[in-house]
Amino acid sequence: MTERRIITGLDIGTTKICAIIAEVSNDEILDIIGIGTSPSVGLRKGVVVDIDDTVNSIETAIMNAERMAGIEVDSVYVGIAGSHISSINSHGVVAITGEDKEISQEDIDRVIEASQIVAIPPERKILHVLPRGFVIDGCQNIKHPLGMSGVRLEVETHIVTGSITSIENLIKSVHKVGIDVEDVVLEPLAASQAVLSNSEKELGVVLVDIGGGTTDVAIFKDGSIWYTSVLPVGGDHITSDIAVGLRTPITTAEEIKISDGYASADMVSEDEEVEVLTTSGQDFKKVSRKLLCEIIEPRVDEMFTLVQQEIKESGYDGLLPAGIVITGGASLMKRLAELASDKLELPVRRGIPKKADDLADFASNNIYKVGKQEANISEGSTAIFATGIGLVCYGSEQEPEQPIIKKGQKKEGMNNLLNRVRGWFEDVF
Ligand SMILES: Nc1ncnc2c1ncn2[C@@H]1O[C@H](COP(=O)(O)OP(=O)(O)OP(=O)(O)O)[C@@H](O)[C@H]1O
Ligand SMILES: [Mg+2]
Repeated sequence: MTERRIITGLDIGTTKICAIIAEVSNDEILDIIGIGTSPSVGLRKGVVVDIDDTVNSIETAIMNAERMAGIEVDSVYVGIAGSHISSINSHGVVAITGEDKEISQEDIDRVIEASQIVAIPPERKILHVLPRGFVIDGCQNIKHPLGMSGVRLEVETHIVTGSITSIENLIKSVHKVGIDVEDVVLEPLAASQAVLSNSEKELGVVLVDIGGGTTDVAIFKDGSIWYTSVLPVGGDHITSDIAVGLRTPITTAEEIKISDGYASADMVSEDEEVEVLTTSGQDFKKVSRKLLCEIIEPRVDEMFTLVQQEIKESGYDGLLPAGIVITGGASLMKRLAELASDKLELPVRRGIPKKADDLADFASNNIYKVGKQEANISEGSTAIFATGIGLVCYGSEQEPEQPIIKKGQKKEGMNNLLNRVRGWFEDVF
């Protein structure tokens, strides 16, 4: 019997909650066996504002995925985002104590821990401590120090923190569904695992995940993450601009944005027209398609002005030859990549999840038959699943501590995991 691990990613987005169940084998190809989505109710910009609604949304997404996969999920890797997330770069240093001066795993753990001794406010919790590079006796840019010799070991780390209340409420919502939390993962970090190549991360690249309510920016260089931030704008702002500008209901604005919208208006002819509902919801009227695109363009332009500011803020302006990779639902807007590339003078490509070869076919054949929406998911439009797939990729790399689960077998009860999560907070309270 082939041993395969079942890993579930739970992407808590501002517009949709998406559960992805995958079977992961040694060849690292993810076999997606279930996808479930549900509208994100009970959360505002990634933060739980109504626990009961959030629990219902999570439950629906998981149940849809479970029904498709024919198995029960007992634990998930949960994505976290929102403006409560912040990050700092830190530095740690230790002396190598072993007699032979050979760097052991213990030394590496110690130096990473030393880098965490920074002033973190009491209401914040560390989510990730990501090593970016080691220094041995002044010799820089060492990726794998294990087994090397030296007397002084230093590390540069990227520390991501989040508000304890937000993290706790997210975990509580998942627990109320009767499911354990394996880990809470920064969403752009997860998405990067699904859409970026190693050479892009090595050269220097910006990942821009444009979702509904937020745009996540993450900058990678020399193979590691260097900078992360969350911008409070996304595709839903474009929709509400359209609704206001064309005086039409939000649902119509959303539909025409997807069917007729372009990120730039200059190539749209004056005489094209689009039919929309009036605000009363009773009649239809014709509006110019150019006007629609003229409403979209400044908002997209604003988003990339903010992205540009983040790149400058990071100190990596001019040092990112691999350019920008855009992903997330709103990255599907036509001509958005071209507009971004002209504005930022960088190469821009769309990031679609790799490692999940049959994702488009699978999603298109299954997912919207479960949900209400009828949609044809092309390979390009799988960008909406980038974070969910990324969470599964992240989970598949965490194996050492996790027991291998044989298909169909239930995992050892909740207690262990509850203890882990409890331990998480112990040092805080
Ligand atoms: N084909 C498309 N063209 C333009 N916009 C699209 C298209 N498909 C989806 N969108 C937009 O993408 C947004 C949702 O994206 P996504 O599913 O990535 O968001 P989310 O993960 O729920 O939110 P966030 O990442 O901000 O928390 C919505 O604003 C939706 O209108
Ligand atoms: Mg998202």
